[in-house]
Amino acid sequence: MPLYTSFTVAKNTQILVWKITESYNDLFRAVQLKDFCMARLEGMRSESHQRGFLSVRMLLQTAGYTDFDLYYNDDGKPHLKDGKEISITHSYGFSAIIISDKNVGIDIELRRDKVIRIADKFIDAEFEFLDQADDFVRKLIVIWGAKEAIYKMLSRNGLSFKQNMNVLPFTMEEKKGRTEVKFEEINSIYQVFFEEIEEFTMVYTIDD
Ligand SMILES: CC(C)(COP(=O)(O)OP(=O)(O)OC[C@H]1O[C@@H](n2cnc3c(N)ncnc32)[C@H](O)[C@@H]1OP(=O)(O)O)[C@@H](O)C(=O)NCCC(=O)NCCS
Repeated sequence: MPLYTSFTVAKNTQILVWKITESYNDLFRAVQLKDFCMARLEGMRSESHQRGFLSVRMLLQTAGYTDFDLYYNDDGKPHLKDGKEISITHSYGFSAIIISDKNVGIDIELRRDKVIRIADKFIDAEFEFLDQADDFVRKLIVIWGAKEAIYKMLSRNGLSFKQNMNVLPFTMEEKKGRTEVKFEEINSIYQVFFEEIEEFTMVYTIDD
């Protein structure tokens, strides 16, 4: 399908979401890739990943950019050549980008019970407010997405989800929360915002 949704979330900050229903061939025909990204595409093992990668190029085109306007740092963080900030996510059937004047991060995760098994890897203090009887999986996914989004925004080697990031108590109804980050010289609280889209949860953060 074409663009699933797009919205302005703050001044000069836009999110675009793609629901990936097209075949690999249809997506491939619709975008132009520079050699570096063509090589990356060819090296991907799963077609699902390839379609996610290509759908991000569709989102870029919708926003008035092409693959040629995008470049990556050595750590994998994407940037736009016009100086705007961008963050990228793709997960199974959806992809999304956030573009802003400010540093940003975005993540989409599929809501599934498997997160319970791995929660101990990315959660520590948050267990004190989490209640297994109350939106447990939904909240675990928000916390995971929040930490992924903040990680992408800060992109700092060694930044640990469990040791350096703490999502403060939140409710699903608020659709936002705050995350403390303490790492090297960083001692900050970042706002995170979330939306549930079908069986996925999208979380984003903007460095105000
Ligand atoms: C790199 C990482 C942030 C990717 O997130 P993900 O949820 O696996 O995958 P997503 O589809 O949401 O995001 C992938 C996009 O993130 C972006 N990205 C990759 N490395 C990045 C970095 N260092 N900084 C910012 N953005 C980055 C890229 O745009 C990438 O997509 P693209 O290469 O196709 O353009 C993640 O794998 C990671 O390394 N996390 C930190 C490690 C960690 O502590 N994990 C603990 C989990 S319990």
